[in-house]
Amino acid sequence: MKIAIYPGSFDPITNGHLDIIKRSLKLFDKIIVLVSFNPAKKYKFDTETKINMIKESLIEEGISEDKVSVDSFSGLTVDYAKTHHAACLIRGLRVVSDFEYEWSLNAANNYIDPSIEMVFLMAKKETSFISSSTINEMYQNGVDVSSLVPKAVLKYLK
Ligand code: COA
Repeated sequence: MKIAIYPGSFDPITNGHLDIIKRSLKLFDKIIVLVSFNPAKKYKFDTETKINMIKESLIEEGISEDKVSVDSFSGLTVDYAKTHHAACLIRGLRVVSDFEYEWSLNAANNYIDPSIEMVFLMAKKETSFISSSTINEMYQNGVDVSSLVPKAVLKYLK
């Protein structure tokens, strides 16, 4: 069984993330969406809320837990991957600036554990401008974000 980890902050999950999850299912038998921690960020939602938003969004999409499960981890993502028998980490690439960041992340992960590969999927152009902080900022300023996030997330934003 080919298992891959999709790590990220998911603060909150957006339609861009969901698109990456759905497309990853064409490549892997099982995806574990991993709510991880970037120490450089201050988060809006706590981990439990992020997990609930992801789980509810997957249910909305009719994606079963056998195919995509959700977990959180505060250590190194490659360590989590190894203990969960996953050979790959998935990341989405939106714009050129993502590439620079991902290049460093890939190099760091490769230094720690070269047995774990990173797989990058290009975001669709409709979702390439979305980020979690943009969603939070737009929502706070009264912009309608209903076409950018799952319905479950809208409920939590409110
Ligand atoms: N659609 C929408 N948004 C997307 C996206 C897509 N396809 N791809 C990326 N993004 C956005 C996210 O919403 C996020 O937006 P934000 O900055 O406004 O919150 C941004 O792009 C990037 O965030 P994310 O992908 O969540 O990365 P991150 O920098 O927050 O976290 C970790 C990266 C958590 C995966 C990484 O830090 C990690 O693995 N941490 C654990 C410790 C570790 O192993 N470190 C690495 C080795 S030292």
